Amino acid sequence: MKNRSLVSITDYSKEEYLRILSLADEFEQNPVQPLMEGRVVATLFFEPSTRTRLSFESAVNRLSGRVIGFADTASSSVTKGETLYDTIKIVSNYCDLIVMRHPLEGSARFASELTDIPVINAGDGANQHPTQTLLDLYSIYKTQGTLENLTMFVVGDLKYGRTVHSLLMALSQFNPTFHFISPDELKMPDEYKLYLDGLGLEYHERKDLSSNIKDADIIYMTRVQKERFSDPIEDEKTKNVYRLKNKMLAGTKPNMRVLHPLPRVTEIDQDVDINPKAYYFTQARNGVYVRQAIMTSILGLK
Ligand code: CP
Repeated sequence: MKNRSLVSITDYSKEEYLRILSLADEFEQNPVQPLMEGRVVATLFFEPSTRTRLSFESAVNRLSGRVIGFADTASSSVTKGETLYDTIKIVSNYCDLIVMRHPLEGSARFASELTDIPVINAGDGANQHPTQTLLDLYSIYKTQGTLENLTMFVVGDLKYGRTVHSLLMALSQFNPTFHFISPDELKMPDEYKLYLDGLGLEYHERKDLSSNIKDADIIYMTRVQKERFSDPIEDEKTKNVYRLKNKMLAGTKPNMRVLHPLPRVTEIDQDVDINPKAYYFTQARNGVYVRQAIMTSILGLK
């Protein structure tokens, strides 16, 4: 992993996922260490973020590194018309690692090809969010004790949700059964279903969340990504389509956990938060340890 960019989750092998998970567990036991002293990480966020940016920055701070960057383009020279090409060329002079979120699919790959500094994709449009996937894998492993042979309910915006695209590809290494639950307008794109077909993996598609819910090991809820819609009517048709309520979890497996990359809007009622099966806030905390593991691996410090 040393000096390698992380743009797509498929840039890493199954063995590398497991190495990151093992390192994350070490960081969870001991999150404050001076491993990144003298290192500078640039966080370039061309799109809004709370968890990804702040957990990366928390991870760097706890490892005694420094952070530069911007949280929105309004405070950068992008507003003056500077290109992504020039921004990456310039920022590469100032740091050891670039963490970038951008609305355009393929932007992180483009950035990684412009510089010798490793680039971590913190989300590129509806395409990929690989560090979210690694923290999702860590959360699944911690709650299930395994990544193998799990029944995954993936719910909501499967068309534009980049977290589910990366998660599908990573979990495919561990023989999952997927249940894709979405409105017709937001179904899992064919390219991902063809990927599963090529691997001979089982998946089911439907609109109804409640049916077969007792089979789930993980219910992975997602928000409708209305910012990616070209037609506002799509938002009207799909918003509030799913609302997970505490009473719907009655009779689910004891090991079942509800995950969500967050932010949530209306798709999980607050009454679910008190259920011990709600794991999404712990999942977000796991992001710090997993991002410590990813950065120290790429910088060759672990
Ligand atoms: N999960 C996630 O990417 O959250 P943010 O958009 O707040 O970073």
